[in-house]
Amino acid sequence: MRIQEKARARCQWLPVLDKNQDTLYLALADQLAADITSGTLKPGDQLPPQRLLADALGVTLGTISRAYREAERRGLTEAKVGSGTRIRGMQSDEPKFHHLSKAEADSIDLSLSVPIPNPIRSEQLAVSLSHLASNPEALRQVLAYQPEQGNLQQREVLAQWLTQHQLSVTADELILTEGGQHADFLAMQALIRPGEAVASAALTYPGMIAVARQLGLKHLPIPTDEEGIKPDALERLCQQQKIRLLYVMPEYNNPTGEHMSHSRRMALVDIARRYDLLILEDAVQYVLPNQRGTPFYQLAPERCLYIFSVSKIIEGGIRFGALRAPKNLMSRLSASLRAQCWSVPGIVGALVCQWLESGHVDALIDWQWQEVKERQALLHRYLGNYAPVAHPYGFHAWLNLPEPWRAVDFVNEAKKHGVILIASDPFCVGSYPAPQAVRICVTPPTHSTTLEKGLSILSDLLEEGPSHTAPLL
Ligand SMILES: Cc1ncc(COP(=O)(O)O)c(C=O)c1O
Repeated sequence: MRIQEKARARCQWLPVLDKNQDTLYLALADQLAADITSGTLKPGDQLPPQRLLADALGVTLGTISRAYREAERRGLTEAKVGSGTRIRGMQSDEPKFHHLSKAEADSIDLSLSVPIPNPIRSEQLAVSLSHLASNPEALRQVLAYQPEQGNLQQREVLAQWLTQHQLSVTADELILTEGGQHADFLAMQALIRPGEAVASAALTYPGMIAVARQLGLKHLPIPTDEEGIKPDALERLCQQQKIRLLYVMPEYNNPTGEHMSHSRRMALVDIARRYDLLILEDAVQYVLPNQRGTPFYQLAPERCLYIFSVSKIIEGGIRFGALRAPKNLMSRLSASLRAQCWSVPGIVGALVCQWLESGHVDALIDWQWQEVKERQALLHRYLGNYAPVAHPYGFHAWLNLPEPWRAVDFVNEAKKHGVILIASDPFCVGSYPAPQAVRICVTPPTHSTTLEKGLSILSDLLEEGPSHTAPLL
C-alpha cells in the first residue's frame, strides 16, 4: 500500500480508472484522450513513467505499456527513447489548418493565406454562372460523367492560359483536381506507398504534413538556408535511406519565405536524378511570371509534378486546380483519382474556364498583386528592423522574433491586442524543433488600413518585449 501511495504522490498524471472494465488498457487510453480534450493534459506534458503509473494504479506494467502504445497509435502521444512519453503538440490530431481557424470577428486576422477580399469576385462568379446557365450545350456537357483526367476542353483552356503565363504545358500533361491540396494528396497517394519516405524543407506547408501523415509515409525534414532546402543535407539523407519524393516550393517557401536561386534548383535536380527522386513542386502560392525562376518541371520534366490552383487567385472555396505530371505517371494518377471521386466536377471547371477565358482573372491578378506589393512594403515599413523574410509579391512574411520573445507568448500577446497570427509549430515536420518565429499574412484584411493597424500593434509589442513575470518555483 505504501508503494502505491508513494507512487501516486509522484505521478504528474493520475487517471481515474474503473478496474471492473474488461480491457483496462483501452479504458486508460480513453481516459487519456478525455483528459486531453478537457485540457487537463496539454501538448508537451510528460506522462508518468510506465512502472510508476502501474504502481500508482495498482495494475500490471503490461496494462500500462499497452495503454501507452494504444495512445501513440491514436496519435495522442509520442514516445522518445530516453525522454519518455509526451502529449503531442499541435499535431495531436492533425496539423492545424490555418484556413479553418476562424478568427474572432472583431480582431485583425493575419493568420490566413487567402486572397485579398474584393466584391468583384462574387460579381464575376455571378457573370460566369449566368453565362453557363444560358449555354445549353455547356450545361449538357457538365451534367455528363467526366474523364478521370478531367474534361478535355477545360484542360485545353487551362493549358493555354498557363502557357500564356510562361508555364508551358499541354492538355494531356494535366489532370484536373479539386485545388492544390487535392493535387498534393493525389500525387503522394498514387505514387508513394505507405511506409516509404518523402522529404521536404523542415518547415513546410501543413497540408503536406497532413497528407504524409494520412498516407502513413515517412516524412523527413531537410534543413534550409536563405535559399531553401540545402543540397548537401538532402544528399546525406539520400545516402542513408531511400527517398521517393522531394516536395519543394521554389518561389517562396510557405511559411519561411526563401526563394531558390537557379543554381540551387539545379543542384536539387542533380540529386533527384542521381537518387531517382520524384519532385513535387507546389506552386499554389501564385507568383507573377516576371518574378519567377524556372519551374522545376521545366528543368526536370521527366520526374517533376507541378501543382497549380486558382485558390490564391480566385478564391479557395472554388476548389479547382491541376497537377502537371510526366506522361508515364498519368495512368497511375488517373486510376487513383477515379478511385477517389471518379473525376472532379465538370461544373466547377466550366465556371473557372469561362473566368480564365474572359480575361477577368488577369484583371484580378493585376489588381491583387499590385495591392500585395504595397502591403509588403507596408510590412517592411513597420517591421523592417526585425528582418522579416518575404517575397515582395508574397501573401505572407516570416518573422524570426527578437530575443527574448518566444513564439507562443508573442502569438498570445498579439491575440490579447486583437491581432491573430500563427506560430511556427504547425509548419514543423515531425519533431523538428520549432523556431521562435511567426507567420504574418498581409492579405486577409479587406483594407490596408486594417493591416497597418495590426502591423503597428505588432511593432509596438516587438519594441516593448515580453512582460515576463518570474515563475514561482
Ligand atoms: C503551399 C500550398 N499548397 C497548397 C495549398 C492548398 O491549396 P488549395 O486551397 O488550392 O487546396 C496551400 C494553401 O494555402 C498552400 O499554401
